[in-house]
Amino acid sequence: MPPQPITLADYEALARERLDPGAWAYLYGGAADELTLRANTEGWQRLELWPRVLRALAGGHTQVQLAGRTLAHPILLAPVAHQQLAHPDGEAASALAAAAQGAGYVLSTQSSVPMETVSQAVLGDPGRGPLWFQLYWQHDRGFNLALAERARAAGYEALVLTADAPVSGARDRERRTGFSLPPGVASVHLRDLPPLRRAEAGTYCGGLPAHALRWEDIAWLQERTPLPVWIKGVLHPQDALQAQQLGVAGLIISNHGGRTLDTAPATARALPRIAEALEGKLPLIVDGGIRRGTDVLKAVALGASAVLLGRPVMHGLAVEGALGVARVIRILRDELEIAMALSGCRTLSDATPALLDGASQLS
Ligand code: FNR
Ligand code: LAC
Repeated sequence: MPPQPITLADYEALARERLDPGAWAYLYGGAADELTLRANTEGWQRLELWPRVLRALAGGHTQVQLAGRTLAHPILLAPVAHQQLAHPDGEAASALAAAAQGAGYVLSTQSSVPMETVSQAVLGDPGRGPLWFQLYWQHDRGFNLALAERARAAGYEALVLTADAPVSGARDRERRTGFSLPPGVASVHLRDLPPLRRAEAGTYCGGLPAHALRWEDIAWLQERTPLPVWIKGVLHPQDALQAQQLGVAGLIISNHGGRTLDTAPATARALPRIAEALEGKLPLIVDGGIRRGTDVLKAVALGASAVLLGRPVMHGLAVEGALGVARVIRILRDELEIAMALSGCRTLSDATPALLDGASQLS
């Protein structure tokens, strides 16, 4: 028996041993030189926490307000495609673990388990966090609307439109292994997608960007769905302002875990700029490189209401199925509580930019 993993990094090391090289390259890899992938973790690591001492900590907790609810803690699971690559139970297991740990869950369009199986497994859990569906915009508007409606009927409470992947990134690590989805793992929601009828004008990226999600598509969808719409994959403050004018429910500051545009900024750098531009007018979630409780605390200090966790969930899933995912969430939450106590934060509303800058305490 290997020793019980203590940190998210321990789970990563064990998962790397367990998974075959192709699956590992897909689940772990970033785009091109993986500079953004590395910058994400380094971005959080580089920020200093300036602890305040001797403060009253009685009654402390990790609760946050999000989407009209009080959540036990600010950790949600990111949409990650093809989770049966990590474990045969796939998304059903990660969603169950999220619910058991009070974490929100975002199911990918490219789930390997049908959305109804996932929602039926968790909707009855009174301690669960929010359950959202991530929508990858397809070339057929009717199909997109039908998928959104199917998600609403299945109990999903919001739609997350991913904006940063009109095409896949240049994922060289993955291509070197010759990775392709093994038999038995499929994007079950896209099986009935009608084929493209005609060749598209434009030659770059095989014509794919011609169908990519645009601002007007989001407005179109908002008019037709009762579900709140979040946009995932915003980095530029100008885009954040445009999204706010569109009346979206919130933004997920993300660079897709460094899997799309390499050399895009670390999310720890984008978040404070967007928070400043929006002046609190939209709730913000951030993801990318969150591996420690201190990272979560820093994200909240910079203006995020919550964080999404991507790869570490796949590592827990690969190592121990649902139990591993539950442990990954629990580890991060315990670390967050320790970090809060040690930096003088009784609640997460005590985490402000001043926590990251000793000089600002004087002004
Ligand atoms: C992703 N991500 C992603 N995002 C999305 O909107 N839809 C998707 O289907 C997927 N699929 C996916 C697969 C894999 C293997 C990974 C690693 C990531 C991006 C994901 O939601 C999230 O933005 C990042 O994973 C966050 O970074 P960390 O936590 O992995 O560093
Ligand atoms: C990925 C896609 C599915 O990052 O979002 O692999």
